[in-house]
Amino acid sequence: MAKQILLKNIEVPGLAGFDVYRRLGGYSAVEKALKGYTPDQVTDEVKKSGLKGRGGAGFPAGMKWSFIDKKSDNPRYFVCNFDESEPGTFKDRHIGQLNPHQLIEGMILGSYALGANAAYIYIRGELFYVLNIIEKAINEAYKNGFLGENILGSGYSLNLYCHPGAGAYICGEETALLESLEGKRGNPRIKPPFPAIVGLYGCPTVVNNVETIAALPWIVNNGGEAYAAIGTGASTGTKLISACGHINKPGIYEIELGLPVEEFIYSDEYCGGIRNGNSLKAVVAGGSSVPILPADLILKTAKGEPRLMSYESLAEGGFQTGTMLGSGGFIVMDHTTCIVKNLLTFARFYRHESCGQCSPCREGTGWMEKILMRIEGGQGTMKDINLLTDIAKNIEGNTICPLGDAAAWPVASAIRHFREEFEEHVKLQKCPF
Ligand SMILES: Cc1cc2nc3c(=O)[nH]c(=O)nc-3n(C[C@H](O)[C@H](O)[C@H](O)COP(=O)(O)O)c2cc1C
Repeated sequence: MAKQILLKNIEVPGLAGFDVYRRLGGYSAVEKALKGYTPDQVTDEVKKSGLKGRGGAGFPAGMKWSFIDKKSDNPRYFVCNFDESEPGTFKDRHIGQLNPHQLIEGMILGSYALGANAAYIYIRGELFYVLNIIEKAINEAYKNGFLGENILGSGYSLNLYCHPGAGAYICGEETALLESLEGKRGNPRIKPPFPAIVGLYGCPTVVNNVETIAALPWIVNNGGEAYAAIGTGASTGTKLISACGHINKPGIYEIELGLPVEEFIYSDEYCGGIRNGNSLKAVVAGGSSVPILPADLILKTAKGEPRLMSYESLAEGGFQTGTMLGSGGFIVMDHTTCIVKNLLTFARFYRHESCGQCSPCREGTGWMEKILMRIEGGQGTMKDINLLTDIAKNIEGNTICPLGDAAAWPVASAIRHFREEFEEHVKLQKCPF
């Protein structure tokens, strides 16, 4: 059984309530930090832990915190990104719904480290039922003296708010999220300046993912070095993986980083193998935005080494033969899957979710969807396949935010690894599946 940091008590009845969470040792990290650590010491523990952001980009959390402009006289803000809209990713919801106090405890620790007296949980609009659970938990934390004025007599005060979005995927991009939180249309901002300098209401702000924040109580309780001892050295700690698709046991798993991909897919402890004894065709390992890999390359790197569930191993080979851990949305496809149809579903999503601010993304996502519809519908030409690659190239790197890259990478990688399947659609003038 892998080390459990995030899901250890997740099946305990009543965990969402303050009393059960507290009885299981909850809020002891806040007591420890507020009584014994300066804010910089909390940041140091997080730096030592090597914790990387779990929202997708994998940026080291402690380093991001240390960029916060502490010279500014403006207030500072800590914001939790609970937008979770990436297709294939459904792990943050699990924490918010079943263990909201762990998230709140993490919010208090992060806010204390940053010197923030106001913090926000920005939650995806469709998750209204989770918002209700979190708000109830926030009220309990106030009642029990863990939020509000002078927490535990430490002199430190924090107000925490939960704010629903309206269901736009783009509002998961951190600067679009901040715009939306300010009451504006969720269009991403040009960076720099980064939020650590000019963030919410123009003030220094850190945005972190739910899972990143939920790991903080354990790190403060056990020390950054203990966290760094789990994993591969470069990828520390545990990671939630939401596994879906053609596997026998879809679900949310907490893995120690460094677990072999093959073990994750085939062992009964995790996905339990491919449904109906079918063969594995492809995997999208980190949410719909990351490059798709065929079975041979997801199980082994191009060097022939076993591929591991870690930031560095999944990226081995760059985008030619590798991919990304991303947000941990693990989508498994068996041999009955049409790659073109799957890609069309993703392309439709990105066209719908493009905010429209940058022309390459606004126009390009629409064209990619149209061409894929043509190929899947049996009206495609060989030229269309190269045209798709060209459009993807023209989007990548040419937009204000990485939604453009997220739309381009699946297309480029699907054609790189499954070109014959696109050609077969054209030759047969129909979908062969
Ligand atoms: C289009 C787009 C959507 C994103 N959606 C999310 C999301 O739903 N949740 C999330 O935590 N990060 C999302 N991100 C990443 C955030 O911009 C940001 O990197 C993250 O919240 C930082 O937190 P972390 O460092 O703890 O991962 C998204 C990025 C892009 C470009």
